Amino acid sequence: MAKTMTMNTPANGPTIQVDKLNLSFGIGASANQVLYDVDFSVEEGEAFGLVGESGSGKTTVLRCLAGQYDHWQGSLSIHGQKLGRKLDRARCRKVQMVFQDPYGSLHPRHTVETALAEPLAIHGIGDRDARIDAILSKVGLPLSFRFRYPHQLSGGQRQRVAIARALILEPRILLLDEPTSALDVSVQAEILNLLADLRVRDGLTYLLVTHDLGVVAHLCDRVAVMQQGRIVDMQECAALSGSMPTHPYTRMLVEASRHYSREMAQIAATDAAAASRVAA
Ligand SMILES: Nc1ncnc2c1ncn2[C@@H]1O[C@H](COP(=O)(O)OP(=O)(O)OP(=O)(O)O)[C@@H](O)[C@H]1O
Ligand SMILES: [Mg+2]
Repeated sequence: MAKTMTMNTPANGPTIQVDKLNLSFGIGASANQVLYDVDFSVEEGEAFGLVGESGSGKTTVLRCLAGQYDHWQGSLSIHGQKLGRKLDRARCRKVQMVFQDPYGSLHPRHTVETALAEPLAIHGIGDRDARIDAILSKVGLPLSFRFRYPHQLSGGQRQRVAIARALILEPRILLLDEPTSALDVSVQAEILNLLADLRVRDGLTYLLVTHDLGVVAHLCDRVAVMQQGRIVDMQECAALSGSMPTHPYTRMLVEASRHYSREMAQIAATDAAAASRVAA
């Protein structure tokens, strides 16, 4: 799948700018610092990956940008405007987050229609029915799914609803926290393709957290590696497939993802052989 070209907008600066972001949980002797001087920027229309071991602070960075934490230090800007510590409506219209587990992020007793109508009501946006129909078809779901509950959907369909809910306010930026890791491998590819298409179609900017360098290679222009709350490496994704990166952690990730790709190819070949024996 083709990645879009990054469109720089020098007049406004980067779409996302993170400068010297620091954050601790707890106070005094029990304080635990989890982010140390995190610096990066994401250009308009770019897909920027954030990878790294569990607990390295990836989700925490997204949560700071999404306005879920207010005790960070440093500077966060969107489209050249500094973000305050409190989440305001303007930020919700520009930035939305998609979580790993769509079952957890959708209310079990709310239909798809209710889940999609809620952000519109909160922001006083009219044209409810037309917008819900448009967003369902945009994420590839039948319009009849309006009346389904989360338990009546497959994992992939639930993640499509979560993406629709994030997109219904027409944000310019999606913060994606491992959006495919809770899904079956075949469904992962469908959701990745959907995200890639939406980005091209709507010119969205993505900040994407993942453990999977295959996902990075599929979707991202650049990737930053986090370790123990710090960014320890940053690479153009095009460079990852050719030469071996010098940073040991990035190298480990690349080797793991090549191993994973070989294993997936073997599984696919075994499945294909089994299918042809059944067909014969
Ligand atoms: N609300 C919280 N209170 C206290 N500590 C927290 C809180 N949220 C996260 N942490 C700690 O902050 C660190 C970073 O967590 P974070 O969730 O950002 O990691 P991550 O890189 O997203 O990991 P994973 O890949 O497992 O999702 C961890 O040590 C975690 O235990
Ligand atoms: Mg996380």
